Amino acid sequence: MIDGRVGGPVSLRDVEALVATKLDAGPLGYFAGGAGDERTLADNEAAFARLQLLPRVLVDVSAVDTATTVLGTPISMPVIVAPVALQRMAHPDGEPGMARAAAAAGTLMCVSTLATATAREVAEAAPGAPRWFQLYVLRDRGVTHALVDEAVDCGYRALVVTVDAPRAGRRERDLRTGFAVPPGIDMPGVSAAAGHSVGLTPADFFSLVDASLSWKDLEALVEAVEIPVLVKGIHTAADARLAIAHGAAGIVVSNHGGRQLDGVPAGIDLLEDVVQEVAGDVEVLVDGGVRRGTDVLKALALGARAVLVGRPLLWGLAWDGEAGARWVLETLRAELELDLMLLGAATPAQVVRAHVR
Ligand SMILES: Cc1cc2nc3c(=O)[nH]c(=O)nc-3n(C[C@H](O)[C@H](O)[C@H](O)COP(=O)(O)O)c2cc1C
Repeated sequence: MIDGRVGGPVSLRDVEALVATKLDAGPLGYFAGGAGDERTLADNEAAFARLQLLPRVLVDVSAVDTATTVLGTPISMPVIVAPVALQRMAHPDGEPGMARAAAAAGTLMCVSTLATATAREVAEAAPGAPRWFQLYVLRDRGVTHALVDEAVDCGYRALVVTVDAPRAGRRERDLRTGFAVPPGIDMPGVSAAAGHSVGLTPADFFSLVDASLSWKDLEALVEAVEIPVLVKGIHTAADARLAIAHGAAGIVVSNHGGRQLDGVPAGIDLLEDVVQEVAGDVEVLVDGGVRRGTDVLKALALGARAVLVGRPLLWGLAWDGEAGARWVLETLRAELELDLMLLGAATPAQVVRAHVR
């Protein structure tokens, strides 16, 4: 896969550049964009650039292994597929293709409520592979329960409740292009609640989300479902503590890829505070701006169990469908393996706080 064909992409950024001319302006702006002035979007990558790695030498790295676990599930590397909406808009392979790519790369995919395939279709595309389901709690609780039941039924191992999007952030690229869900693209979860998907803007489909959701609803959800519930979109130590108090089994420190409240810090800059507060009670994941194996190392050093990757996988999918998404995952894994060696750590568990400044 990652044969470095001369002229072909070498890094994730190369793939991003390849698809910039391939996608129409509306989908491209929807995938790439952030909220407001995109300060948080830019800072997600800049924050990784500000951190520096401090390798240790003369450590035996002759047998490096990138494998780890998340919530007890073995995965080939501490990198999982972030929940990302509308994947068939990137490529007809869509979420089923992404699921096969994740399975082939040995890692876990988190499937969005705003997916363009049902949870069952995605499960059937890669039977046996581990999966999580990302939940937006909709005002229509009947539809919400049906989505949860389907995911549980199909063997999804955890729910990831996204709590940073009671409404869509002000995504001005979408306003400029007039982005709406194009003909031929259906989000079954949205259609179940709104009757259809085509023609809806992000503001429209996020208006289905229950903006009244509070901690007591989270607790009720945790009690009602038999699989663990993670909370995605946590910024502060105080909210991490509340999430645990209300039954969360994991925390995802995330600003939704800079698409919600512009002006919040990069997740990587908030990670350590959250990790310290949580003090090992639950696993903490982080996302936003991960583009390199070295970014993964920085997140591990600051206490993340794993990272989620969003846009680069969309670029991979848009470039070459399932094979392109797989290329992105395998390239990240290959980078991480080399980077672990150069850092002087044989496994993700051997990456410690002193490796980063
Ligand atoms: C196009 C796009 C769609 C997204 N859709 C969802 C979604 O449906 N649910 C969700 O929880 N997060 C969603 N996210 C946020 C991602 O899960 C993740 O937090 C973010 O993409 C990480 O940043 P990165 O793109 O820099 O890797 C979306 C992000 C993008 C770019």
